[in-house]
Amino acid sequence: MRPWFDNHCGGCHRPNASDAGRWEYNPYDATTIENNISQLYKVIYTRRSMPRQKLSASELEVFKTWYDSGHPTN
Ligand code: HEC
Repeated sequence: MRPWFDNHCGGCHRPNASDAGRWEYNPYDATTIENNISQLYKVIYTRRSMPRQKLSASELEVFKTWYDSGHPTN
């Protein structure tokens, strides 16, 4: 799932990026996903407020399938 997060979120949320203060996503540290999984689900899937540039249905489906399968980070 790392490429998905790198692609859709990393630009603004990687360490030292403009919006890392709201949620810091570190591609080399899976706990930055795990520890925030319920908030991530909420903004990505429930509210659909992140990323601001809307995801396509298939990109959203990739996230949902991954989440429903227990959101493995390895
Ligand atoms: C273009 C830059 C940009 C991208 C890409 C982006 N974000 Fe954000 N993110 C922001 C900004 C700016 C905020 C501050 C809240 C706001 O203004 O909406 C934010 C806030 C957040 C927050 C804090 C909760 C909140 O709603 O304030 C979370 C969690 C978050 N983003 C997760 C993500 C995830 C997950 C992705 C990828 C799916 C993502 N963001 C992609 C810019 C971005």
